[in-house]
Amino acid sequence: MMRVLVTGGAGFIGSHLVERLLGDGHFVRVLDDFSTGKRANLELVSAGAAPGRFELMEGSIADFETCRRAVEGIEGVLHQAALPSVPRSVRDPIASNAANVDGTLNLLVAARDAKVRRMVQASSSSVYGNSPTLPKHEGMPTNPRSPYALTKLAGEVYARLFFELYGFETVCLRYFNVFGPRQDPSSQYAAVIPKFTFALLDGEPPEIHGDGGQTRDFTYIANVVDANLRALEAPKAAGEAMNVAAGARTSLLEMLGHIQDILGTTIAPRHVDSRAGDVRDSSPISPR
Ligand SMILES: NC(=O)c1ccc[n+]([C@@H]2O[C@H](COP(=O)([O-])OP(=O)(O)OC[C@H]3O[C@@H](n4cnc5c(N)ncnc54)[C@H](O)[C@@H]3O)[C@@H](O)[C@H]2O)c1
Repeated sequence: MMRVLVTGGAGFIGSHLVERLLGDGHFVRVLDDFSTGKRANLELVSAGAAPGRFELMEGSIADFETCRRAVEGIEGVLHQAALPSVPRSVRDPIASNAANVDGTLNLLVAARDAKVRRMVQASSSSVYGNSPTLPKHEGMPTNPRSPYALTKLAGEVYARLFFELYGFETVCLRYFNVFGPRQDPSSQYAAVIPKFTFALLDGEPPEIHGDGGQTRDFTYIANVVDANLRALEAPKAAGEAMNVAAGARTSLLEMLGHIQDILGTTIAPRHVDSRAGDVRDSSPISPR
């Protein structure tokens, strides 16, 4: 049994990590401020936990003392807490920086001091920016195009420095457009798959920013969970940042077509202006 802290455990990805860790018999503590996460997610995934195996701490990673308490007695940290949206960061870069950069630094310092064995942190394919070079591989230069992407890159650089300067083991995982159950369709910052699906189910035209030809590598949540658990253990991963992706390039229009086929509907999309900070092509595989 391992003692694991999941920050952002009430969110989409975090709640899947909690579910898997509890299912595998580990002790899980969640630190979440419920800014975008949901209590219902945690109630669902912790319902069957053995007594004493699950703890919830409500609080923000932006507070150092909270981070210090959260890492007490912890062996591994899976750090998911963040304000995860590009448009939100364009609108309010200070809030994104406080949660994503200050919060990550607080956690790194607290985890290092508490002698946590390793911290795995959620990064993002957005750190590559709009470079036309495909595939987007770990060796290429980063070029963040939004405050959100910059916060993720800053978190990565801090993580690498903590490994190099203090020998504290960190691993950063660059997720590419994760999808799956419990992804929130309702917020204005929602991801496209739940947004398209719920619009079609409601008989509404799904909204596409731009021409819909922009491509993404849609990555199923179970693969992201696996990547996190492996990153906690793999000896050579310490100090690294690596892609977590499915390896398929799909345009938004193609994705909409797949969802329409599944739901048996042909409602046409409504095209609206492109969003500031959005990337045209994001894939770790070569162009077609
Ligand atoms: N979903 C994706 O496609 C995707 C892609 C790339 C990277 N990521 C990264 O993965 C992580 C999880 O994303 P998600 O899609 O599950 O988002 P989410 O919004 O569902 O989860 C984020 C969680 O963090 C919590 N949180 C936010 N600020 C906090 C703070 N200051 N203190 C404590 N908790 C806080 C929220 O309440 C929420 O529960 C984020 O770091 C995000 O940047 C996600």
